[in-house]
Amino acid sequence: MNDFANELEQTARTMVEAGKGILAIDESSPTIKKRFDTISTESTEESRRAYRDLLITAPGGNDFISGMILYDETIRQATSEGTPFPKYLSDHGIMPGIKVDTGAKEFAGHPGEKVTEGLDGLRDRLAEYRSLGAKFAKWRAVITIGDHIPSTACINANAHALSRYASLCQEAGIVPMVEPEVLMDADNTIEHCYAVTEATLKTLFNELYSQDVVMEHVILKVNMVVSGKKCSTQAGVQEVADMTVRCLKNTVPAAIPGIVFLSGGQTPQLATAHLNAMNASNNNLPWPLSFSYGRALQEPCLNAWLGEKANVEAAQNALLHREKCNSLACSGKYSEDMENAA
Ligand code: 13P
Repeated sequence: MNDFANELEQTARTMVEAGKGILAIDESSPTIKKRFDTISTESTEESRRAYRDLLITAPGGNDFISGMILYDETIRQATSEGTPFPKYLSDHGIMPGIKVDTGAKEFAGHPGEKVTEGLDGLRDRLAEYRSLGAKFAKWRAVITIGDHIPSTACINANAHALSRYASLCQEAGIVPMVEPEVLMDADNTIEHCYAVTEATLKTLFNELYSQDVVMEHVILKVNMVVSGKKCSTQAGVQEVADMTVRCLKNTVPAAIPGIVFLSGGQTPQLATAHLNAMNASNNNLPWPLSFSYGRALQEPCLNAWLGEKANVEAAQNALLHREKCNSLACSGKYSEDMENAA
């Protein structure tokens, strides 16, 4: 038995504690630069630190957030008062997590498809991240819908890498947040998204089993089943909720302690409405369904901040509002009226 079994179980359960979700602030340097470009703010080590500082220190965030996913640079940075970010988070009852993949790269021989890298040296990196305070780690695989893709080879390669990573995490006493993301950018129908998500999750769990990954110590982070952004018919909120839950019931073992969703380019309000509908219409699922959004939690906050110190409080309020709405959506208690009251 793994020496860390009790700790892993405790961490995984705490990540999906009732009414709490996970804030993803693990954008790589090229991605955060893209986000800062939208608010005409230069991306420097200090501007990235200042922005992450306001996200991490937003007062009261721990009522709604159980963990935050950090990037390698961020886990080594500190608040303006000099407290290392991981220590600040732990002191405030929020678990520090870390993105450990090194990005989705072109998949050789498969134009238009990607495979995620980062296994080389991962054992040593995980040991260092644990010493820096990380309790869980994230690895994101990307599955693209298009003409004749995804290929079986792409799904297999990504599931294999996710399982290698998950196994190394458990060995290191870190809970793996396993993230297969079926992208929502194409013109596909919701049924097509369902089929690809189902195939991806079936392959992933087969691979996790075959590599002896302990299901009780894994958190699944996944896309919702939605219409592609460019599809002329967009499924409604209840349809997204029903298809997503059906897909998960058909593929995810009951032993998994919890499932969290990425937002993937949905608007902040729609991401909340979808989660709310899933929880409002299902009260007997084997796992809690919660959130681990990046953009859908941060967008209004980023737009309120605009890179200005004077806007920090307004930006934190915008973040807390989204966190609260999603916290309520975890028990189906969110209502659109809450947006107008904001
Ligand atoms: P989005 O919610 O912006 O899709 O990001 C979540 C995430 O962590 C992707 O890996």
